[in-house]
Amino acid sequence: MAEIRPNSDIAQVFVGRRREMAELTSALNDALSGQGRLVMLAGEPGIGKTRTAQELGVLAEQRGAQNLWGRCH
Ligand SMILES: Nc1ncnc2c1ncn2[C@@H]1O[C@H](COP(=O)(O)OP(=O)(O)O)[C@@H](O)[C@H]1O
Ligand SMILES: [Mg+2]
Repeated sequence: MAEIRPNSDIAQVFVGRRREMAELTSALNDALSGQGRLVMLAGEPGIGKTRTAQELGVLAEQRGAQNLWGRCH
């Protein structure tokens, strides 16, 4: 039986979350046009909040925005 290993390429793939990304992209558009927005991603641990925020961060940086992160315990 073949050994199953995590594939690093697959681990990079971001799946689904179309509705969330549409809302976040809309908020990014508003922010870039001077209308700042505050968005909260809520959900149980492991549901994908951080990853979704990271995807938005990539989009924001691609469009020249400054992407700042804070963390807490
Ligand atoms: N849409 C997604 N596509 C692919 N992997 C995802 C997606 N959302 C989350 N993951 C993966 O699931 C794991 C948990 O997601 P994470 O964003 O850390 O959850 P949370 O911040 O809500 O606790 C991470 O390894 C993350 O990369
Ligand atoms: Mg998280």
